[in-house]
Amino acid sequence: MEKYDIKNLQLAKSGKKKIDWAEKQMPVLRLIRQEFIKTKPLKNITLAACLHITTETANLLLTLKAGGAFVVACASNPLSTQDDTAAALVKYYKIPVYAIKGETNKIYYKHINSVLAYKPDITMDDGADLVSTIHKTHRNLIPKIIGGSEETTTGVIRLKAMAEKGVLSYPIIAVNNAKTKHFFDNRYGTGQSTIDGIIRATNILLAGLNFVVCGYGWCGRGIAMRAHGAGSNVIIVETDAIRALEAKMDGFSVMPMSKAAEIGDVFVTATGNINVIRKEHFLKMKDGAIVANSGHFNVEIDLLNLEKISETKKEARPFVIEYKLNNGKTINVLAEGRLVNLSAAEGHPASVMDMSFANQAKAAEYLVKMKGKLEKKVYDMPEHIDKKIAELKLKSLGVEIEKLTLEQKKYLTSWEEGT
Ligand code: ADE
Repeated sequence: MEKYDIKNLQLAKSGKKKIDWAEKQMPVLRLIRQEFIKTKPLKNITLAACLHITTETANLLLTLKAGGAFVVACASNPLSTQDDTAAALVKYYKIPVYAIKGETNKIYYKHINSVLAYKPDITMDDGADLVSTIHKTHRNLIPKIIGGSEETTTGVIRLKAMAEKGVLSYPIIAVNNAKTKHFFDNRYGTGQSTIDGIIRATNILLAGLNFVVCGYGWCGRGIAMRAHGAGSNVIIVETDAIRALEAKMDGFSVMPMSKAAEIGDVFVTATGNINVIRKEHFLKMKDGAIVANSGHFNVEIDLLNLEKISETKKEARPFVIEYKLNNGKTINVLAEGRLVNLSAAEGHPASVMDMSFANQAKAAEYLVKMKGKLEKKVYDMPEHIDKKIAELKLKSLGVEIEKLTLEQKKYLTSWEEGT
């Protein structure tokens, strides 16, 4: 078996510098690493990770390795790999990595198969591709697997669908469902990194633009908040009445896509659903409109039909494809409709991934501790771990919080006192 498949081992030095830089902003993960060095909770565990190969992920993998695990990794998206990080992981840390930025779908799955050849005890996913591949074509691995963890909303939805249909064959911890994950990573992380990706790809000024956000989940909220902060007029497209109402009362315009298509300058999808921006919308868009996706899969923008109504397409800048439509207008699609924040920028900053990956490390430890005791279900992160991560993060930020007095604690558990 080849021990790795990466772009270029000579990029390792640059990758190492960036991994060290990210580490400085990951104090909670650092504390867990120190604890893992002493307790070795992952001794004799082979852990296969299918995650975005970034400097932050590198710090997670090093923590898992410090905990005694044999770690092997592949990308969770064909465009999100930082090739220098992958090289550093192989060269300096002896972690087999199978990931190349820009790999085809075929190579993407070849890399997943390479990682599965190590016969993992634990799977760590961002989007559930390891779990689904195991269930489809590598069922022989299932008896050895203790459990898995899942990083993202889309992955948790897929895994819950598997559990509901009775086909999930091992327990999963939904890291995404930890409060210290989705309240922060999905909102502030996606908010900042999506804007970062759009700006790096296009160098546009956001001030004064009509900025359309499709989906007002935690990611959509973050994107809307940051686009507003940059001076854009934010428009929300949402199918859920409660979320739409929240968006309205948060001060944003709310309308269906058919109307937003006519006035938007920039469009970002963050819904987790398919064909959110379609042919009928492209045909209504202004000349030069910019379209990007921040949802996990590249299914939210209907590129197949955009091709069909286009005369030509060309690369306008790296990560920008300009489509010339039959109606004479142009539309710019960023990062092939894949995650714009990880394709055209570096994903979420380390400080927020600190909490997400503290949860991942603790989820792996928890799975080992609970070996044989969990059902074939999707579990939330244990609340006490979530709370501990929040406390450690606050401490690292030098924030002290108020404590309940004994009298207040008693009041909160009593029912006798009223008006
Ligand atoms: N998902 C979003 N941002 C990320 C990052 N920086 N590293 C790994 N996964 C991510």
